[in-house]
Amino acid sequence: MRRMRKDDFSRRLMRESRLSVDDLIYPVFVLGGENRSEAVPSMPGVARKSIDLLLREAEELVQLGIPAVALFPVTPQEAKSLDAAEAWNPEGIAQRAVRALKKNFPELGVITDVALDPFTTHGQDGIIDESGYVLNDETIDALVKQAVSHAEAGADIVAPSDMMDGRVGAIRSALEARELIYTRILAYSAKYASSYYGPFRDAVGSSGNLGKGNKFTYQMDPGNTDEAIHEVTLDLAEGADMVMVKPGMPYLDIVRRVKSELQVPTFVYQVSGEYAMHVAAAQNGWLDRDSVMMESLLCMKRAGADGILTYFAKDAAKLLKHG
Ligand code: PBG
Repeated sequence: MRRMRKDDFSRRLMRESRLSVDDLIYPVFVLGGENRSEAVPSMPGVARKSIDLLLREAEELVQLGIPAVALFPVTPQEAKSLDAAEAWNPEGIAQRAVRALKKNFPELGVITDVALDPFTTHGQDGIIDESGYVLNDETIDALVKQAVSHAEAGADIVAPSDMMDGRVGAIRSALEARELIYTRILAYSAKYASSYYGPFRDAVGSSGNLGKGNKFTYQMDPGNTDEAIHEVTLDLAEGADMVMVKPGMPYLDIVRRVKSELQVPTFVYQVSGEYAMHVAAAQNGWLDRDSVMMESLLCMKRAGADGILTYFAKDAAKLLKHG
C-alpha cells in the first residue's frame, strides 16, 4: 500500500474526495442599522454585521468564488413576540438583506433560514401553547408566510430549519400558488437536538430567551439514524430540492446513509459549536487551525456531502485559491 503513498503525484492521482470552493456556503449573522459590526465572543473571527457591511463581505465572497450565503437575522428584543410576526415583515432584516444582496450581487446565491426562533420571545422555533409545547400546524401557517416573504424579496433558496411536520409541502404549495416556481427548498431534514448550537444561539440572541428550555419535542434524538432516513424521505416527497444533515462532524454516518440510500443533493452544516471547538483548540496552540479546518471539510465530502455550510468558508476558499 505504501508504494502509492510514497510520492505526492501518486497520492494526488488516487485521492477520491476533494474539497472545492464550489462546495462552500457561508452563514452570516445580520444586524439592523448601519455601519455596525459586533464580534461574537463564542465564535472568534465571526461578526454580526449590518446590511451595508454585509454587502462588502458579499463582494469578497464573490471574488473568492463562494457560490452562496446563508442569512441569519439578529432581531432586536422589542421586535420579538409570541406570534413571531416580525418573521414575515417585508421590511424585516432578512427580507431587506435579501433585496440588497440580489440587487448588488445577482450571481451570489442567497439562502434564508425559515424558522421562528429569532422572532419569538421564548426562543422556540414555533408558536407555543400555555404549557410551552410547540404547536405544529399553527407554526406551519407562520412558516409559510415567512418563506413566501423571503421568496418575494428574491431569496434563491428557502431553508426551513424548524423541524415541524409537513412544512416543506405547505411551503412548496404556497410558492406554487404565487408562481414562485424557481425558489428552491433546502430542507433541514435531519436536524438533531444538539448542544453544538450554543454559540449560534448566542450570536442570534435567542439563548437568553430559551433559557433552560430545549427543542427535544421537534428536533431529532442524537441516538437515531432510521428516523433521519424517514425525515429525508418525507421532505423529498413534499417537494424539497435538497436535504441537510445537521450538525456535521458527529453526524457524518447520517450524511453517508442519506447519500447512499437516497442519492439526492445532500448538504451538511458544520455548526457553530464545531467551529468554536476548532478555533479554541487552535488558539491554545493545541491543533493547527488550517490543517484541521481543511481535514474536517474534506471528511464531510468523503462522507457524501455535496455542499457544506461552514463558518470557515472564507478561510477555506482562500487556502484553496492561494495554497
Ligand atoms: C434555528 C437554527 C439553529 C441553527 C441554525 N438555524 C439553532 C437551533 O436550532 O437552535 C444552528 C446553527 C449553528 O449552530 O451554527 N432554527
